[in-house]
Amino acid sequence: MSQRLLFVCLGNICRSPTAENIMNHLLAQANLQEQISCDSAGTGDYHLGEPPDRRMTKAAKQQGITLRGRARQLQALDLKNFDLILAMDQENYRDILSLDPAGQYAHKVRLICEFCSRHADIEVPDPYFGGAEGFDYVIDLLLDACEGLLNSLQLKS
Ligand code: 4NP
Repeated sequence: MSQRLLFVCLGNICRSPTAENIMNHLLAQANLQEQISCDSAGTGDYHLGEPPDRRMTKAAKQQGITLRGRARQLQALDLKNFDLILAMDQENYRDILSLDPAGQYAHKVRLICEFCSRHADIEVPDPYFGGAEGFDYVIDLLLDACEGLLNSLQLKS
């Protein structure tokens, strides 16, 4: 049985699809795609069905990562279905937990920056309303976080 990871941000067009595709990239490099599957979702419904943001896609491409996927909204059932749910910021974290009022799945929800080793950030900053440098920073931060996340998972090589 593979472990199921879900990456969550607000719009599901910038940060969480980037985390999902970076993680898939690292899993493919390590030949571990069979053991872990990744998806992403947004807490909001502003961009449903849209592909990742063009500026985010360009920044990822420069690091050799192709962004795939279409935006969808997080549902309460996702908390049951995924093994680990990774929030990009504290607002996402609270919004995820608000779908689980009994706290049954709270142990599955983490802030992705907990897994960083090169960065001291607590949150992945929302790049949507800023300049190009914000998108480059998201890539750098998520590479760090996803490497740490991969190392933290119990995997059979
Ligand atoms: P994301 O970025 O949460 O990283 O996908 C955003 C995308 C869209 C909006 C905000 C953040 N928005 O307000 O439409």
